[in-house]
Amino acid sequence: MERWLVLAVLLLIFSIWCEGASTRGAGLWDPAIRLPSEKKVLEEESEDEIGTRWAVLVAGSMGFGNYRHQADVCHAYQLLKKGGLKDENIVVFMYDDIAASPLNPRPGIIINHPQGEDVYAGVPKDYTGNNVTVQNLFAVLMGNKTAVRGGSGKVIDSQADDHIFLYYSDHGGPGVLGMPSMPYLYAGDFIEVLRKKHAANSYKKMVIYVEACESGSMFQGMMPEDLNIYVTTASNAVESSWGTYCPGMQPPPPPEFLTCLGDLYSIAWMEDSETHNLKNETIKTQYEDVKKRTSSLNNQAGGSHVMEYGDKTFKDEKLYLYQGFDPSNANVSENGFQANKLEAVNQRDADLLFLWKRYEQLEGRPQEKSKVFKEITETMVHRKHLDSSIKFIGELLFGIEHGSSILQTIRNASQPLVDDWDCLKRMVQVFESHCGSLTQYGMKHIRAFANICNHGISKHRMEEAARTACEGYILPRWNPMIQGYSA
Ligand SMILES: *[C@@H]1O[C@H](CO)[C@@H](O)[C@H](O)[C@H]1NC(C)=O
Ligand SMILES: *[C@@H]1O[C@H](CO)[C@@H](O)[C@H](O)[C@H]1NC(C)=O
Ligand SMILES: *[C@@H]1O[C@H](CO)[C@@H](O)[C@H](O)[C@H]1NC(C)=O
Ligand SMILES: *[C@@H]1O[C@H](CO)[C@@H](O)[C@H](O)[C@H]1NC(C)=O
Ligand SMILES: *[C@@H]1O[C@H](CO)[C@@H](O)[C@H](O)[C@H]1NC(C)=O
Repeated sequence: MERWLVLAVLLLIFSIWCEGASTRGAGLWDPAIRLPSEKKVLEEESEDEIGTRWAVLVAGSMGFGNYRHQADVCHAYQLLKKGGLKDENIVVFMYDDIAASPLNPRPGIIINHPQGEDVYAGVPKDYTGNNVTVQNLFAVLMGNKTAVRGGSGKVIDSQADDHIFLYYSDHGGPGVLGMPSMPYLYAGDFIEVLRKKHAANSYKKMVIYVEACESGSMFQGMMPEDLNIYVTTASNAVESSWGTYCPGMQPPPPPEFLTCLGDLYSIAWMEDSETHNLKNETIKTQYEDVKKRTSSLNNQAGGSHVMEYGDKTFKDEKLYLYQGFDPSNANVSENGFQANKLEAVNQRDADLLFLWKRYEQLEGRPQEKSKVFKEITETMVHRKHLDSSIKFIGELLFGIEHGSSILQTIRNASQPLVDDWDCLKRMVQVFESHCGSLTQYGMKHIRAFANICNHGISKHRMEEAARTACEGYILPRWNPMIQGYSA
């Protein structure tokens, strides 16, 4: 029995590996020498002309198996800081359980590249632990100090001339982004907050980068084009995004790391920014470079389609307006950076990969080993339960022939995932109260609940179906009464 499950896990992990790769060199840029023309730009530019640059950085996960999301966010902070953004203008959301984790092979340090330097030192701990919430994110974006609960109280107190950069990295699902403390971030609410921010006339332009599975679904068919906001996402509305620098892949993290160090789209934009002159590089060029690299050379088994949404009229603007300008990159040569192909693992399997690597490492420590093994099997069993109970609910609601196809219906790209976002949240709550937490993995099923709403199913019918499908289930570990509801 045990042997069989181990094999299943192994197969699953191998099935999501992709081929080919090569490491890039460590020396990324030439020494700092500024072109005369750039010196002039620097002198001419006054704070009045570009206003203040603000940034919001969000890592939506917790746990050492999700190392990579907080590593991405710390790295982004360092990049912006080198670019001249001030701490008072950068708001960081991260659970902050990585650097001091007993599983961290380099205590107090976080890296985001196999040969990378520490990216943790100096990162402002604005919102950590239980304070990393959707409510706080919205309050921060709106610059509303009275709505903030806990944390540093730092908010985006921006004015009409200012530029805002928002970067998010974590797990997601159709129309939803993860948060370490429940509930999750739903697209309908997010777009509403962006509309309010625009109505408050408190920024000039905003650029948003989102790494998550199905991240395109946060904006597709919904993102207005008249808010002066430009968005790119790691993936389209129906596909996974990918972790990279993972154990056993090329290039691998240092051998003592059992977890992925970064995410494909995230490291693509950051390594691009670090190797270009951001007073010369445009938003458009970065989008194109990142799209190319994140596609993993169109290898189906690892890579996603970077997408863009919102206002595409200001893509010719230079990136330094959002990410700042690091003088040491003033004279980097445009062709000095070879973005090589990277192996990657599907976000949803990266945490299993981590558990599996821990399991392997615990040779000779049978007690701990069986504990990790139990965690792997429980995780697999819960995943299977989620998949099968949702399928069953579909059959109960729509009949055995049509159930699956109705739940999996993908709407036309000009339509949002769901018409009634409150209905979607209700359906998620009903499901979780009978069938247990959706978890990071189960977020992929949110499209099913959206389609249940789009077909006008009542809450009462959903209650009945969920009760029937999940009678007597719910392991304490995934009990939403304890963990909180994800909607
Ligand atoms: C700020 O948040 C508080 C509490 O949620 C709310 O009552 C108030 O209306 C908000 N202020 C603005 C300007 O939106
Ligand atoms: C949340 O913020 C408050 C106020 O800054 C702080 O006292 C508390 O420790 C924070 N909670 C966590 C879990 O970090
Ligand atoms: C500026 O950007 C353009 C377009 O990407 C590129 O062709 C050119 O080499 C860059 N110039 C410098 C000095 O980096
Ligand atoms: C700086 O850039 C100029 C123009 O591209 C180039 O001729 C020069 O060699 C560069 N200097 C260094 C040290 O890379
Ligand atoms: C998507 O839906 C819109 C409005 O219902 C329709 O006009 C359009 O033709 C559809 N596009 C596709 C590709 O089906």
